[in-house]
Amino acid sequence: MSVWLCAASVWYPRRRMALSVDIQRLVQTMPKIELHLHIEGSLEPEMVFALAAKNSIELPYASVDALRAAYEFADLQSFLDIYYAGTQVLCTESDFYDMTRAYLVRAAADNVVHTEIFFDPQSHTSRGVPMGTIIGGIRRALDDGKKEFGISSEMILCFLRHLSEEDAEQTLEAALPFKKHFIGVGLDSGERGNPPSKFERVFKKARDAGLRAVAHAAEEGPASYITEALDLLHVTRIDHGVRCTEDDNVVTRLVREQIPLTVCPLSNVKLRVFDTMRDHNIKALLDRGLCVTVNSDDPAYFGGYIGANFESMCDALPITRADLIKLGENAARASYADEARKAELLRLVQSI
Ligand code: ADE
Ligand code: ZN
Repeated sequence: MSVWLCAASVWYPRRRMALSVDIQRLVQTMPKIELHLHIEGSLEPEMVFALAAKNSIELPYASVDALRAAYEFADLQSFLDIYYAGTQVLCTESDFYDMTRAYLVRAAADNVVHTEIFFDPQSHTSRGVPMGTIIGGIRRALDDGKKEFGISSEMILCFLRHLSEEDAEQTLEAALPFKKHFIGVGLDSGERGNPPSKFERVFKKARDAGLRAVAHAAEEGPASYITEALDLLHVTRIDHGVRCTEDDNVVTRLVREQIPLTVCPLSNVKLRVFDTMRDHNIKALLDRGLCVTVNSDDPAYFGGYIGANFESMCDALPITRADLIKLGENAARASYADEARKAELLRLVQSI
């Protein structure tokens, strides 16, 4: 007797999908576009230890293995506690450079052709690290990554939503002298109890300064946070958004307006948004016509980079070649690359 599993309105057999050779090859070789990657979430435990030693910072873990063993999360907050502790080892421009460079090496191995990376300046400026050190180190590595790997990139400054709007406004003021280096602002950190409405004024200031806007919404929080992010913050992409299915009106709107969702499958399983990858709703969202993309979020903490996210998703869900092309097209259209690069990205993802 077969056991069936419900993923939104679609039913899949519970047994593991056999990843066909064709899909496996496509997943490995296809050009990828990453739109949701916290650069501090790419800090591998080995680098946490190396930077801690270099900067004379004491860590509450005895070894790399002990730190990695702590990566068992009950929810978003239990992850954020460890993630913010890890960011404390970043002190100098070269630390930010080395972290970003290490991510780009991994991204190149996964055939990433374009990436838009988040950074959390408040976790660093609160420790006295100057804004220019943070942005300068990341930007220099991205520029080198373009030359060496051909990976185009953009930076998005995220406000920490557990802090006040005043803190976010001061952060924006401090970052505006470096505006040519980042394309937009985002909203991350603990979602529960920190609705998008808390940041309406600072997002307006950012948009008035010519910046794009995105926000994490409906990762753990309610579907109504998507509506708030769209109507109050005027975001043009939603990060995660997988809980949109809790409100049919929100789903209908996302489909009608083709608002991109930057979905992060491994993150959602690791942070218990879904029990297993087989329970993930990404295939169901795609089938309902939502503009879904695949991304890695915090790859050092969640078990893999963008390639591993595609692999795990295809292993558990009946993703087709047409789905993979659609996911690539969605990401190209949702990207903040300039129009010429967008057209190039679209051609690349359609050529698989
Ligand atoms: N900061 C880093 N990763 C995050 C996530 N998945 N959700 C919210 N804030 C984050
Ligand atoms: Zn995220």
